[in-house]
Amino acid sequence: MISAVGLAKTFKTRRGEVEAVRGVDLEVKAGEIVGFLGPNGAGKTTTLRMLTTLLEPTAGTAIVAGADLRREPAEVRRRIGYVGQGGGTDGACTVAEELVTQAELYRIGAAEARERSQELLVQLELAGLEDRYIKTLSGGQKRRLDIALGLVHAPALVFLDEPTTGLDPQSRANLWSHVRRLRDDLETTVFLTTHYLEEADALCDRILIIDSGRIVAEGTPEELKSRISGDLVTIEVDDDPAAALTALEGLEGVRETSTSGRVLRVVVDSGGQILLGIMRAMDAASVPIASIQLARPTLDDVFLTLTGRSLRDDSPATANAAAPEPEAAS
Ligand SMILES: Nc1ncnc2c1ncn2[C@@H]1O[C@H](COP(=O)(O)OP(=O)(O)OP(=O)(O)O)[C@@H](O)[C@H]1O
Ligand SMILES: [Mg+2]
Repeated sequence: MISAVGLAKTFKTRRGEVEAVRGVDLEVKAGEIVGFLGPNGAGKTTTLRMLTTLLEPTAGTAIVAGADLRREPAEVRRRIGYVGQGGGTDGACTVAEELVTQAELYRIGAAEARERSQELLVQLELAGLEDRYIKTLSGGQKRRLDIALGLVHAPALVFLDEPTTGLDPQSRANLWSHVRRLRDDLETTVFLTTHYLEEADALCDRILIIDSGRIVAEGTPEELKSRISGDLVTIEVDDDPAAALTALEGLEGVRETSTSGRVLRVVVDSGGQILLGIMRAMDAASVPIASIQLARPTLDDVFLTLTGRSLRDDSPATANAAAPEPEAAS
């Protein structure tokens, strides 16, 4: 659905050049929900704007929804939906007016536009709000309307830039289920950006982590977590940690062991698979286990390992305070 090679964008500013995106390769398959995860300024929006033809790449090529980004930009635009970081609705219009206007932009006939709008209003739980002025909608309702607008022409591929920034946790979880339904019911491929780890983890089939304009890792949330950090098994023994350590030696999937008093810390490839093996090995060596615990690394551990920085600087307060960026209309 998306196949990009070497996408790059350098902005020229008065103070010199900003290499916002430095050669991004990516593949997105039909029917996937792929998350583009990275901190502020990583190059997420810039990449998205290139893939949606809003910004010309400095280098690189891409096929988006079957059309060539550079040679057939109009065709790309026709086949995709794009929901910008700040949304682009007109507060003085009603919900229904905005949806029908958007449908007209895609040259959809009036009857079909009304039908399509009705469907989307139901799907995104906006039914009953047709005649409301957009400026009177709540943040969550407005964000769902933004998404409905991106879907009016039933694109096979939709780009969502930070779909849940500024929403409270409940509206955010609610929106996740809408996005999942888009994929499950309508087979829409979804490419979204986020700087929320929970969002990438809970919603996305696959994640690309971008930092300073480069993709630094990719995989399913589970793969990323197991590949980069491993799982941590903490075992407390009644006595003789040395015997316990010996019992674990050579056990397949054990990467590292350390002890502190009667507590063993064991870094393993994948805790779910090895837990039983550990318990059997201890039993065979007649080392009684007082307690055993398995901890999974979080995506934040992954990010920290990769970049040396934490992504966890996005407290809800700062997320809410972030003013929406103006977005050029598509
Ligand atoms: N028009 C522009 N002119 C100059 N620099 C730009 C321009 N647009 C973006 N940049 C710079 O490019 C870098 C990447 O910006 P981008 O908007 O892609 O980041 P992002 O990952 O979407 O961040 P955020 O999470 O804050 O939305 C930043 O350093 C930004 O300041
Ligand atoms: Mg952005």
